[in-house]
Amino acid sequence: MTDTLVFNPTVEGFFGDPYAHYREVRDAERVQEHPLGFWFVSHYADVTQLLRAGLSVEDRHLAEGPLLDQARAIAGDRAGALSLSMLDRDPPDHTRLRSLVTKVFTQRAVAALEPMVTRLVDESLDRIADGGSVDLVEELAFPLPFAVISTMLGTPPTDHVRLRELSGTLVRSLEVVTDPEVLAAIREAEVALSGMTREIIAWKRANPADDLLTALIQAEQDGDKLSDDELVAQVLLLYIAGHETTVNLISNGTVALLRNPAQLELLRARPELAGNAVEELLRYDSPVQQTRRITTAPHVLADREIPAGAFVIACLGSANRDERYWGPTADTVDIERADAHRHVSFGAGHHHCLGAALARLEGRVAIGRLVSRFPSLALDGEVTWNGRLNLRGAASVPVRV
Ligand code: HEM
Repeated sequence: MTDTLVFNPTVEGFFGDPYAHYREVRDAERVQEHPLGFWFVSHYADVTQLLRAGLSVEDRHLAEGPLLDQARAIAGDRAGALSLSMLDRDPPDHTRLRSLVTKVFTQRAVAALEPMVTRLVDESLDRIADGGSVDLVEELAFPLPFAVISTMLGTPPTDHVRLRELSGTLVRSLEVVTDPEVLAAIREAEVALSGMTREIIAWKRANPADDLLTALIQAEQDGDKLSDDELVAQVLLLYIAGHETTVNLISNGTVALLRNPAQLELLRARPELAGNAVEELLRYDSPVQQTRRITTAPHVLADREIPAGAFVIACLGSANRDERYWGPTADTVDIERADAHRHVSFGAGHHHCLGAALARLEGRVAIGRLVSRFPSLALDGEVTWNGRLNLRGAASVPVRV
C-alpha cells in the first residue's frame, strides 16, 4: 500500500462529479500503481502517449493477479463473446476485423445518415413538446442512438427492455470489478446477450437486406474473413458501443449546457457552433471515462517503469480536464474553445473509436435541435447518475420545455 492519494471512486459524490477527485490524483502522482493491481494514468500527455504506443489489449498478456482473475471470471471456461471483438484484439486480427466494418462508418457514409437522424430527433422532440415535464434520457438520449444502430444493423424489433438491462450489466466488464456477485452477473449477461445476438443473426440469415448485419454475415460465409464466434462478437460490440456511449454524450452534454445558461444562450443564438459545442461537451464530461492497454514488456511512461503484464487504465475523463494541457479554463464549458476537438474521449491509436463520426452527428443534431426548438428548456428536478465508473452518464434528466 502507498500513502499517496490513490484513485478511489468511493469518495463522496464521485459518480455525480468525478473531476475534483481526478485533479487530486493528477496532482498526487502522474502514473500510479494502484493497490488493486492496475496502473492509473491521468495526465493528458501520458494518456495520449500510452494510447498511441501500440500496446496490447488482449487479457491473455496479463500477469497473474486480480485483473487476470476478473478476466477469467467473466470469460468462464470459453473465450467470452466480447473478447473476440476488435476492441479486445491486437493486429493482425484487429486489422482484419476492423476492416470489415470501416466503410460503413466513414465520414461520407455517416453524412448520408443525417436525414434519418434528423427525422428520429424530430419525432422525439414532437413527443417532448406535448409532455410538460419529461425525462430527457428516456425521451431522446437513449431512443436516438438505439434506433440508429438498430436501423444500421437491420435488427428485428427485439425485447428492448431486456436488451437494455443486459447491456447495462455487461458494460460493467469495462471497469475494474472486485465484487464476485457483480462478476457473476456480468458473465450471465454476456451469455444471455450472446444468445440473443445469435438469434438475431439467424433471423437475418433468413431475412437478408441491404444492411450492415447482412454484409457481416456475407463476410462470414465467404470463408476465412470472419468466424462464427467473431461475427457474434462484432455485432454485440456494435450494438453496445452504438448506444451505451452516445446516450451519455446527449444527456451529459445537455446537463452541462443547462447548468451553464450563458453557453446555452450562445448556442441558441449561433446554431453554427453546434459542431464545436459537441467537441467541447465531449471534452467537458466524457461519455467514456476510461480505456485500457496491457503491457507485454516493461514500458516507461513519465519516468515510471510499468512492468510487463500490467493492466493500465488511461483515464480519458481526467486527461480531458488536465489543466497542464487545457490551461486555467479546463473546468469551464466554452463552446467556442478553439482546440476542443483535441479531447481524448474517442481514445487514440489503432483502437480510436470507429463510431466517432456517427456519435458526433447524433450529438450535433440532437443537442442542436433540442436547444433551438425549446427556448425555455430548463432542468426540472435533480439529475441522477448511473453509478458507472466507465460509461458514466446521467440516468435521468428531468426537464421542462
Ligand atoms: C472504441 C468512445 C460511440 C463503435 C471506442 C473507444 C472509445 C470510444 C474510448 C476505445 C478507444 C481506445 O481504446 O483507444 C466512444 C464515445 C462514443 C462512441 C465517447 C459516443 C459519444 C460509438 C458508436 C459506435 C462505436 C456510435 C458504433 C456504432 C466503436 C467501436 C470501437 C470503439 C467498434 C472499437 C474500435 C477498435 O477497437 O478498433 N469508442 N464511442 N462507438 N467504438 Fe466508440
